[in-house]
Amino acid sequence: MTTTVTTAPARTRRLTGFQPTGQLHLGNLLGALRPLIAAQDTTESIALIADLHAMTMEHDPSSVRRLTLDQATVMLAAGVDPERTPIVVQSQIREHTELHYLLECVAAHGEAARMIQFKEKSAGGGPIRLSLLTYPVLMAADILLYDTTQVPVGEDQNQHLELARTLATRFNTRYGETFTVPEGVRPDSAARVMDLAEPTMKMGKSTGTGRIALLDPPEAIRRTIARAATDRAGLVRRDRENQPGVTNLIDILAELTGRQPADPTSYSALKREVTDAIEALLTPIRARHAELSANPDFVRGVLAAGAAKVRPIAAATVGRARSGIGLLD
Ligand code: TRP
Repeated sequence: MTTTVTTAPARTRRLTGFQPTGQLHLGNLLGALRPLIAAQDTTESIALIADLHAMTMEHDPSSVRRLTLDQATVMLAAGVDPERTPIVVQSQIREHTELHYLLECVAAHGEAARMIQFKEKSAGGGPIRLSLLTYPVLMAADILLYDTTQVPVGEDQNQHLELARTLATRFNTRYGETFTVPEGVRPDSAARVMDLAEPTMKMGKSTGTGRIALLDPPEAIRRTIARAATDRAGLVRRDRENQPGVTNLIDILAELTGRQPADPTSYSALKREVTDAIEALLTPIRARHAELSANPDFVRGVLAAGAAKVRPIAAATVGRARSGIGLLD
């Protein structure tokens, strides 16, 4: 007796998300954007600008709007091809908020309250937005909405991805097969850029003096690298434990040029090499960004096209969820 098993070919869809809470920086470019761009030929990706997430902490409406458009512009300038990788603004797809609510009905208060990032961000005193508590549920909606199979996540978003997996599985068990359960993909550690002033911390949108925004002018970049933390060892070698600053500079150089530092004893030579490599990387992005910025209607058109492309996927997912959970068509 022969049995024929037919399985659908495994489809990969990757969702990379950014929050418009600051300018995209070198860490975003090397850790998230370049891998996305490099995989465009082989992997279906969606680039999501999570503007609703930017409202979970005190925010300035006009800067969220400006940063949203600007992040889209930087993505295009860096080489995201919107024909292959839709660039999607979260709030322009209403299904994100609809699915957020439906997922709140399978998430427990305690699950949200124990998220490390919630605890950290709510520790400062002052009023805590309820949306900060439910933020990981919105992030789960972002992911599940598009039948995402892979989510590149750094350490800080791991727990949120786990929650998305838990909610997907729980919903499927209670209400019938509805969601694809996503996997996390870890970005290459070489692409993990640390803050230049505080090299034990990841470079972030809100870190202060050690951050290189992709649109920083060359002079600012030169200064940031000149001031980058080093140590007194006087040796250019990788030693993350004892020489985190020097190690970070070596890693950035290797990531950008594939080269090791030319002079094993000079920090200033190392910094000059890193400055040149970053300048070579960012000069074309800056130029393309300037061209695109002169034409914001074009960028808005790209976002409208991205939304139109993914909306049917979102609508189908919410349709399944609504029907499973007991809503009338
Ligand atoms: N919360 C993520 C961050 O701060 C951004 C994000 C929002 C995201 N929605 C997402 C990332 C969905 C991956 C998938 O980095």
